[in-house]
Amino acid sequence: MLFPAVLFISLSLCKCDRPNIVFIIADDLGWNDVGFHGLNQIPTPNMDALASSGILLHNYYVTPICTPSRSAIMTGKYPIHTGMQHTVIFGTEPRGLPLSEKILPQYLKDVGYKTHLIGKWHLGSYKKKYLPMYRGFDSHVGFWSGKIDMYDHTNQEKNYWGFDFRKGFSVAHDLFGHYATDIYTNEAIKVINSHNKSEPLFLMVSHSAVHSGNPSEPIRAPEELLANFTHIKDFQRQKFAAVLSKLDESVGEVVDALQTRGLLENSVVIFTTDNGGPAEGFNDNRASNYPLRGVKNTLWEGGVRGAGFLWSPLIEKKSRISKQMFHLVDWLPTLLCVAGLNVSSLQSLDGIDQWEALSKDLKSKRVSILHNIDDIYGSAAITVDKWKLLKGTNYNGAWDGWYGPSGREGNYDAGAVQDARAARALRALGLMPDLDTVLKLREEATVKCDNMSHIPCNPLKSPCLFNIEEDPCEMRNLADTEPTILRSMLEELEIMNKTAIPPNNKPLDPRGDPKFWGQVITNFGDYENLNANSLC
Ligand SMILES: *[C@@H]1O[C@H](CO)[C@@H](O)[C@H](O)[C@H]1NC(C)=O
Ligand SMILES: *[C@@H]1O[C@H](CO)[C@@H](O)[C@H](O)[C@H]1NC(C)=O
Ligand SMILES: *[C@@H]1O[C@H](CO)[C@@H](O)[C@H](O)[C@H]1NC(C)=O
Ligand SMILES: *[C@@H]1O[C@H](CO)[C@@H](O)[C@H](O)[C@H]1NC(C)=O
Ligand SMILES: *[C@@H]1O[C@H](CO)[C@@H](O)[C@H](O)[C@H]1NC(C)=O
Repeated sequence: MLFPAVLFISLSLCKCDRPNIVFIIADDLGWNDVGFHGLNQIPTPNMDALASSGILLHNYYVTPICTPSRSAIMTGKYPIHTGMQHTVIFGTEPRGLPLSEKILPQYLKDVGYKTHLIGKWHLGSYKKKYLPMYRGFDSHVGFWSGKIDMYDHTNQEKNYWGFDFRKGFSVAHDLFGHYATDIYTNEAIKVINSHNKSEPLFLMVSHSAVHSGNPSEPIRAPEELLANFTHIKDFQRQKFAAVLSKLDESVGEVVDALQTRGLLENSVVIFTTDNGGPAEGFNDNRASNYPLRGVKNTLWEGGVRGAGFLWSPLIEKKSRISKQMFHLVDWLPTLLCVAGLNVSSLQSLDGIDQWEALSKDLKSKRVSILHNIDDIYGSAAITVDKWKLLKGTNYNGAWDGWYGPSGREGNYDAGAVQDARAARALRALGLMPDLDTVLKLREEATVKCDNMSHIPCNPLKSPCLFNIEEDPCEMRNLADTEPTILRSMLEELEIMNKTAIPPNNKPLDPRGDPKFWGQVITNFGDYENLNANSLC
């Protein structure tokens, strides 16, 4: 009897049709890997069109690495509150996002959404109950672990190597050789075209791009696209450019399909990276966070300031840059608000519902962000208003510098933005801004740090303090000149630290080695009482 009552309350809150929610996640995309942040080197016209028609999230923060980021999106909680704060889940690691957490698609399913995940999961796969279709998704086509080769769909990491591609629970050997981004695009279009329009849609497209794959050839792009990027002399970055252009093309095709089907006019589209970019060979990759400091899996701005935008006809003040502080954990309450749920009834979230603040350009309720506390690495960072504190660092300081490429050479192809598939879809709704607006927003969103003189910082020796508003590139360590602020920031960090639970990482389980399971990364924990070899 309880169920209809609950349903009635939540339905009564809804003023309009629940909008479709399309959540596109890029993997390892850097701050400077999108045209709308000032990059000329690699065109991303579809993303640029959508960003300039919606809201460019300018003070937008993610967590520094994959599993923690995805856990934050799904739960609305900081990784220190779910035990997910230290590194990623490995394919043979017997752990997952704790089952005590109710996650985004589960909430949306409660109010009638049809929920689909395409692409990467990375929140645990050693038992079925940790997998997407046991956690609120009606369907999943994609992979379970952290990365795959774009063509052969295997993941080689640590001491194992296995095939990792699924349609639901079935191993999708038939997709071998098909470029991963194309598979996701086609699946997304299939979902959109077969969706029952009288029900709301939640579609999560969780890309492999632009993550690197396996050590033998980490960056893999369709050969024929390389000719478009011969102006990039670094061959790895040239391939990266082709990978990125496939990602941009996918965004355009998905938006086009939504428009063609008549779903776009009642949709909210989110585009976000999961963490900062792996630059200059980090993770065998060639992303760029220029001019920000640091890389993926560091707490510098290059690791945590994210490329992202929000698009929807439901936004009241469109075509602008949002200065509101926004963190990945805010998506869950923000999207549940859009979906008509009573967000104030949700307990113990770190996320804040920012729908109204974003839509109407009001002051954000968020004044601080805990970037992470990782006592295993010995690093922590927190931002309060304009101040950022860094204590300790990862990789013993080896990735604490500034990395390129700037990609500012050449010209911006604004015409390509106007001609992009996404722009045509937006124009059909009367929502594509003119060229001047695109250029003006882009100029405003381009971070410049050329005039700054350095005051050095060594977070391995003592905490560093930055005024991020004036010094987004973390060049001037003000720890010595602002002792009072430093002290209060350290206190803030200590308060947050008291709320942390221990990380739930586990040693790799040799029984999970794909060699025992037909060379496939699998939910080996479900077969604990069986002899692995007897199954294969
Ligand atoms: C579409 O959804 C509506 C509302 O849930 C339902 O009544 C209808 O039967 C569905 N149509 C099809 C073809 O499944
Ligand atoms: C690559 O170049 C070809 C030929 O100039 C062009 O038609 C195509 O749109 C380009 N593709 C991308 C992704 O830039
Ligand atoms: C929303 O939830 C809060 C907290 O549970 C409750 O006090 C409030 O009455 C609810 N609002 C509506 C409109 O149901
Ligand atoms: C650099 O320029 C920006 C804006 O032009 C200004 O706010 C900032 O104070 C300048 N920094 C230095 C160190 O001169
Ligand atoms: C957080 O608290 C734990 C346990 O008291 C301590 O070992 C750790 O050093 C603290 N971390 C930070 C960043 O203060």
